[in-house]
Amino acid sequence: MQAIVLVGGEGTRLRPLTYSVPKPMVPLLDRPFMEHVLLRLRDAGIAEVILAAGYLPEAIQRHFGDGREIGLRLHYVVEEVPLGTAGALKNVESLITGAFFVFNGDVLTSLDLGAMREFHRSKGGIGTLHLTPVEDPTAFGCVEHDGEGCVARFVEKPRAHEVTTNLINAGTYLLEREVLAAIPAGRNVSIERETFPTLIAANGRKLFAYATGDYWIDIGKPENYLKANVDILQGNIPLHTVGTTAPHVPVKSPSFVGLGSSVEGRAEVGPNTVLGRNCRVSSGARVSGSVLWDDVSVDRDAVIEGAILAGGVHVGAGAHIGRGAVVGHGEEIAPGVVIPAGARVPTPA
Ligand code: GDD
Ligand code: MG
Repeated sequence: MQAIVLVGGEGTRLRPLTYSVPKPMVPLLDRPFMEHVLLRLRDAGIAEVILAAGYLPEAIQRHFGDGREIGLRLHYVVEEVPLGTAGALKNVESLITGAFFVFNGDVLTSLDLGAMREFHRSKGGIGTLHLTPVEDPTAFGCVEHDGEGCVARFVEKPRAHEVTTNLINAGTYLLEREVLAAIPAGRNVSIERETFPTLIAANGRKLFAYATGDYWIDIGKPENYLKANVDILQGNIPLHTVGTTAPHVPVKSPSFVGLGSSVEGRAEVGPNTVLGRNCRVSSGARVSGSVLWDDVSVDRDAVIEGAILAGGVHVGAGAHIGRGAVVGHGEEIAPGVVIPAGARVPTPA
């Protein structure tokens, strides 16, 4: 079976992290986020994946190549201008041979794809949408379905008064090839705002909803990205792709330390902390509930709490980085400086 993964978004909500790295390539413990996703697809028996890219596609291509190393056949189709979540599918129509999976490229879930395929076959619809319950559907696509599981209404980013269910579009679809015929070519088309509502209104074969209680997260916002890291550390996601933590580095568990990283004796690292490769935490510094990418150095007595630091950041002695702060690639945090909770450095334009 073929799959299309949508990886063309600019990752606006993850800025400044996504100035240097496209959203699919942000690290999750020991490897890029997208690698965890692709390995799950491979393990579910998917052999061929089309990556519909647009923003910083080279970074994705450089890492995965033709996919051989992870046991997949990968194709890259790069959009000159963003074609939207349905336009991206129309754009790869010539590569699609039958029913296919579609994945939003920023979702991590333990959904059983084989079971979803069985469900889709048994319903015989034109497509099946995976749904998941959330507390606040306003940031998602709200999906209503009837007693038979037939999708009755799709409202993207509903306003609070439009929310009628806590079940949202979880960003995994199984679609019959004929769905592509319903997407106009040559312009930006949103599957959520245009294609699904069109299919629901049409008199043809139905769209079905497949709601599950699986682990599910969209890493597209800093707080969710941080949560995904912590969830893996705490064993809440059945990911078997995570490598081993660097040995002999004193940290409070659960934490993960990449190869080549060092923590000085009187430093405190963890719990719920990820250090990438070749990080250095000096004596007296404290790092907790945080994710530090590769090559981050933290000088003496600095404190980092619940923050995300991109690659190559240098935190000066005694600096303090507050909860929810996000620091972009290569930033210099001067000694003693206080970065307030929730701040983004540099501030996105
Ligand atoms: N190729 C391509 N071209 N990909 C795109 C484009 C485009 O023009 N625009 C967005 N994408 C990709 C993004 O990279 C991402 O992987 C996926 O499509 C979804 O885009 P987001 O920007 O992350 O959308 P969202 O999170 O606000 O909402 C979507 O996901 C929710 C679940 O997380 C919608 O599908 C909602 O209905 C859904 O509930
Ligand atoms: Mg998203």
